[in-house]
Amino acid sequence: MINSVWNNSVDLPRFDSLKRDLKTDVLIIGGGFTGVLLAYKLKELGVQCALVEADTICSGVTLNTTAKITSQHSLIYNKIYKDYGLEKAKLYYKSNQEALEEFKLKCKNIDCDFEEKDSVVYSLNRSDRINDESEVLNKINADFEYVKSVPLPFNIAGAIKFKNQAQFNPLKFVEAIIKDLKIYENTKVLGFDGEAFVTDSGRIFSNKTVVATHFPIFNKFGLYPLKLYQDRSYVIALKDAQEVNGMYVDENETGLSFRNYKDMLLLGGGSHRTGKQGGNWKELNIFRNHYYPYSKEVCRWATQDCMSLDHIPYIGEYSKLAPNMFVATGFNKWGMTSSMVAANVLCDLIMGNENEYSELYSPSRKIFHPQLFTNIVESTANILTPTAPRCPHLGCALKWNSAERSWDCSCHGSRFTADGKLLDNPATADLKIKHRNQ
Ligand code: FES
Repeated sequence: MINSVWNNSVDLPRFDSLKRDLKTDVLIIGGGFTGVLLAYKLKELGVQCALVEADTICSGVTLNTTAKITSQHSLIYNKIYKDYGLEKAKLYYKSNQEALEEFKLKCKNIDCDFEEKDSVVYSLNRSDRINDESEVLNKINADFEYVKSVPLPFNIAGAIKFKNQAQFNPLKFVEAIIKDLKIYENTKVLGFDGEAFVTDSGRIFSNKTVVATHFPIFNKFGLYPLKLYQDRSYVIALKDAQEVNGMYVDENETGLSFRNYKDMLLLGGGSHRTGKQGGNWKELNIFRNHYYPYSKEVCRWATQDCMSLDHIPYIGEYSKLAPNMFVATGFNKWGMTSSMVAANVLCDLIMGNENEYSELYSPSRKIFHPQLFTNIVESTANILTPTAPRCPHLGCALKWNSAERSWDCSCHGSRFTADGKLLDNPATADLKIKHRNQ
C-alpha cells in the first residue's frame, strides 16, 4: 500500500476554499509544515495572516517525511566551513540547535509521539569524511561524539553522534497548532496581477507575502529553477524488523536511513534526482530481504526534497527585485528543523527585526557552486530532447517512472500521473497528454 504511516494517524480538520476577495497583512502561499508553523507563530505575535493551499493542508512532502528533528544534517558542517568559513558553520549549528530546543519545549504540551533520540551519521567506507566533519565540529564547539560502531546489521568505517535530538509524528503536531488559523484550502494561486495575488476564486491583497510552496512557483525572480533541483527518496515501514533506538543516516547521498515509529522500523533510501533512475523501493527490498527476512511491510511511500546549490536552505527575501515577498525552500531533506529555523527567520524579517541568521540563509547569496553547472546541463539537455510529453513548467522532456507510474521531470522535479494530473510542483498546471498505454 502506498501511504505514509502519518497519513493513517490523524484526520486534520478541513477548511473552506476562498470565496471572495481578501485583504490581509501577511499572505502565506503553501500549507505544508513550514507554512502552517509560520502562520501559527505570526498569530502568536498578533500579526494578521492568511494561508492559502492549492490542495489540503500538509498533503505534500509533510505527509511523507521521516520526521527527524536534528541539527545534524549529514556532513553539513565541513561543507559550510569549506564554502563560507567557521563563523557560518557556527551560525548554522546555533540556528538548528535553537530550533531543536524550541520543538522540545513546544512538544511538552503536544501529544505528537515526540521522543528524544540520538542522531547518527555513519559512513560505510569513508572514515576520512567522518574525521573531517569531526574536526570542524570540534572547532565550532558542537556537542558530538565520534563512534566506531552502530546497532545496525553491518559494519561501518566510523560515525558521528549528536545526542538528545528528536523524532515525532508531524501531523499530530500540526493538528495541535492549526486550530484558529485562517486557512483556505483548495485555493490555487495563479499569479500576481500587479496589485494582488489572483486565485481561482478571488484576489488577495497583502502587504507581505511568503511563498512556502515547497519549490517556489514564481519563475520571474530569484533564479530558483537554476538554484534548486529535487531528489526523490523512498521509505518502507516494517514490523518485526529491528528496534534501532535512534536515527541513523548514511553520509552517502544514495545510502540508507533508519528510525523507528512505534513498533515499526522506517527504512529509507533508494534516492535519485527526480526524473532519473535510482534504487527506489527495489533497493530497500533487497536490504530488507537480506537483513530482516522475517519482517512484514506495513506500508511504503516516497517523497521528494528541494536541494540547494550549497546544502543550505534559502530563507528570506524572494529576490532583491520582489520587495515584501519572502521564501523558504531548499531544505535538503532536513525539513522539520529547517521549517522551524525558517519560521523564526521569516517572523523577524516580516516584523522588521534584525535576525542574526538572515545572511547565512539569504536566497541572494552566491550561486557559483558545482551543482549550478550540473543543473544547467540537466535543464539544457532536457529542453533539447525532442520527445513528448513536455513539462508545463518550463518545457523539459518528461520521463516515464515505471516504479511509481508517473511522468517525472528531471529539470526541477515536477511530476504527473499517467493521465497528466499534477502530483508535485513547481509546475502549477496539469499535463495535457493524449492517452497512451505504458
Ligand atoms: Fe521545470 Fe519540468 S519542472 S521544466
